[in-house]
Amino acid sequence: MIRTLVIPAVVLVAGAAAAAALAAADEDVDGISVQCVDRDAYVQPIPSLDRRQLQAFQRGRRHFDKTWGAVTSLDFEWGLGPTFNATSCLECHVGGGRGRAPENGSQPLLSLLVRLSVPGEGPHGGPNPDHAYGGQFQTAGLAGPFPDFAYHTAPVPPEASLYIDWDEQLVAYADGEQVRLREPRLRIENLAFGALPEGAMFSLRIAQPLHGLGLLEAVADDTLHRIAALQKTQGLNGRVNVVRDDVNDRMSVGRFGWKANQPSLRQQIAMASLEDMGLTSRLYRAQNCPPVQTLCAAQTPGNDPELVATDWDELELWSRALAVPAPRDTGDARVQRGARLFEEAKCALCHVPQMRTAESFPPLPQLANRVIRPYTDLLLHDMGEGLADGRPDFRAGARDWRTPPLWGLGLSETVNGGSALLHDGRARNAAEAILWHGGEAQASREAFRTMHKADRDALLHFLNAI
Ligand code: HEC
Ligand code: HEC
Repeated sequence: MIRTLVIPAVVLVAGAAAAAALAAADEDVDGISVQCVDRDAYVQPIPSLDRRQLQAFQRGRRHFDKTWGAVTSLDFEWGLGPTFNATSCLECHVGGGRGRAPENGSQPLLSLLVRLSVPGEGPHGGPNPDHAYGGQFQTAGLAGPFPDFAYHTAPVPPEASLYIDWDEQLVAYADGEQVRLREPRLRIENLAFGALPEGAMFSLRIAQPLHGLGLLEAVADDTLHRIAALQKTQGLNGRVNVVRDDVNDRMSVGRFGWKANQPSLRQQIAMASLEDMGLTSRLYRAQNCPPVQTLCAAQTPGNDPELVATDWDELELWSRALAVPAPRDTGDARVQRGARLFEEAKCALCHVPQMRTAESFPPLPQLANRVIRPYTDLLLHDMGEGLADGRPDFRAGARDWRTPPLWGLGLSETVNGGSALLHDGRARNAAEAILWHGGEAQASREAFRTMHKADRDALLHFLNAI
């Protein structure tokens, strides 16, 4: 019986899978991808949803878009805060896609957040949260005084103000053409609850695009282990993260987030609701107020829970059922050449072009047993010192990142009005992102850096088309 997948083997050994995936992509009507190339390209439902699922999907979309507020009114859902980073999912995941990075050091971080931890191990072997600030800085607090005075007594202080200053450096392709790369330097001001302890660690993360995530959730753990085993024979060291699964009360394989630190969309959504917007859920019932934050703790919650169960379910279905944009221009000779170069530069070892989802996926059966072309292995890789955040996250080390999927990458500009790539949004386009690759991907980066210009362009054309 062919259970999950053979294609990674083909990819790793035979090395022509990106070209093959491209050819195959053209012909199938697969029930999971859509021909949509406008700004809504990342928020389309898979075409195979039934009527009832589609209605739930549309309600999920409204939960994603809606703005949360502190007082009941027709325009707001009640429950925001007491501290938060944003007032809607959409505010960070612009168009269901990436966040936007600030241009300069005077703009606030809107769709980037900063995780923090202090030395030592936290609960279940995860990062150790700071006693005063927790595991993530919330940059906003409910302001007062309020018309509904009974509920809100005094303004809740934001935990800190965060800014990025960009350091620039020039790197050169082998043919002499120069590229300006920028690297963020985090500036933390107005710490509301005192200085941070010696050795505090920070990780800057930009909001990720959300299309196709249900399909990645539907890939069996086994497939990931198998890809990791094959990579070992290729001199790479891809590893699964194993993280706390609060939904099932156990440790599970991590797949979401830049360090694969979340095991499921369900948990990711509940955690984002709590940490990014201050919404309690059935999973995380307590407001996000470390004990020293007394004004935060004094606030009366909007509801119990604030993210009600049906809304959570519908958001989950929505994020799970997001389709992937079908590849474009696959007949173009330059794109096909780019596909071969993608193999030759060994990009495909990590950005695995093709795999199959699990034979069964009860939460959304339409996602089971599908051939998908995500260009990721969902594994952690050492990406070198240049990209290191210095902050471990379960099994992810200080230099490790999860390979991001590359499907739909070429539509990023259309969806978001820009492409802020890599975990902190430092890369303004795919070429910059590749030039930052180091560690296990150093050889790939060098292969790209030393290509002729026409070949670099072909590779970038390919990335734009998938
Ligand atoms: C303050 C900005 C912000 C808000 C608000 C926000 N997110 Fe996110 N989201 C992020 C960031 C940053 C990440 C990456 C987190 C990490 O790597 O630790 C992320 C990751 C995700 C992922 C995982 C993506 C992947 O490829 O692994 C999902 C799913 C997600 N968010 C859904 C949501 C939903 C649904 C909401 C609303 C309930 C939401 N987010 C609200 C910033 C935000
Ligand atoms: C060893 C595994 C590995 C190899 C080989 C590799 N990558 Fe990556 N790639 C990653 C990881 C991990 C990241 C995320 C790094 C980060 O966010 O700091 C990434 C990020 C990217 C991004 C940015 C995507 C986004 O959503 O931000 C692009 C584009 C990309 N890689 C293209 C390539 C190309 C093209 C090649 C071959 C020249 C290549 N990669 C080789 C692992 C790899």
